[in-house]
Amino acid sequence: MAKFHVIIPAAGSGSRMATALPKQYLPLIGRPILSWTLDTFLACERIASVHLVLNANDVHWQTNSRHHSKLSILHCGGGTRAETVLNALKSLDAEQADWVLVHDAARPGLTHTLLDSLLDELQDDAVGGLLAIPVADTLKRADSSQHVVSTESREGLWQAQTPQMFRYGILKDALTKSGGAPTDEAQAVEALGFKPKLVTGQLRNLKITFPQDLALAEAILAADQEGVRK
Ligand code: CTP
Ligand code: MG
Repeated sequence: MAKFHVIIPAAGSGSRMATALPKQYLPLIGRPILSWTLDTFLACERIASVHLVLNANDVHWQTNSRHHSKLSILHCGGGTRAETVLNALKSLDAEQADWVLVHDAARPGLTHTLLDSLLDELQDDAVGGLLAIPVADTLKRADSSQHVVSTESREGLWQAQTPQMFRYGILKDALTKSGGAPTDEAQAVEALGFKPKLVTGQLRNLKITFPQDLALAEAILAADQEGVRK
């Protein structure tokens, strides 16, 4: 049976967060964002292996370091997210038909239920897909001075999240041919002519990108903990 492997690219600098510490290491209710992200995958019995990809010069992991039989640490981060993921894929011991899930280090709100729904929906698929949410707000196109020039239809539009989950052979081929440019795995797979499946995600699986996102993620995870205590 095809195995599920996870790659967590964590080699970015978090320039939009504008903090000295790369955002994946910022504290979220007392422990690094990255630690929350890892937990969901390490605790899932269906996942065979988890590969955390760090920048070669990363000095922060050591202080946070943790050990787990499923976890391997790769110091092969690239100049772009796509390069980071491809570098990790090259060192992965996987079969062509195995699944690779790629999940942003800065998305700590993924739940076991969401992860399971992604695995359930895609495990019999030939290609793969991703968590995504249908666009809910009215969309405006702006000019360079931030004035509205038109209202765009939101019909058929989705916001891509992660995990993005593809067959190992297809993803490696897609990223090898992509030149490191795509901002997510699906874009590289689409360029091969495939149509990745969209699996409905949730807003809580947000990517921490801007400073104000941290408080939102904190509120979501704090509410989870409160729910557990009740
Ligand atoms: N990432 C990576 N290698 C890169 C760039 C990004 O592994 N060369 C990772 C980030 O660490 C993050 C994920 O890809 O987990 C999503 O990227 P993003 O949110 O854009 O993070 P950063 O690139 O770090 O942030 P920014 O774009 O604001 O600099
Ligand atoms: Mg980035």
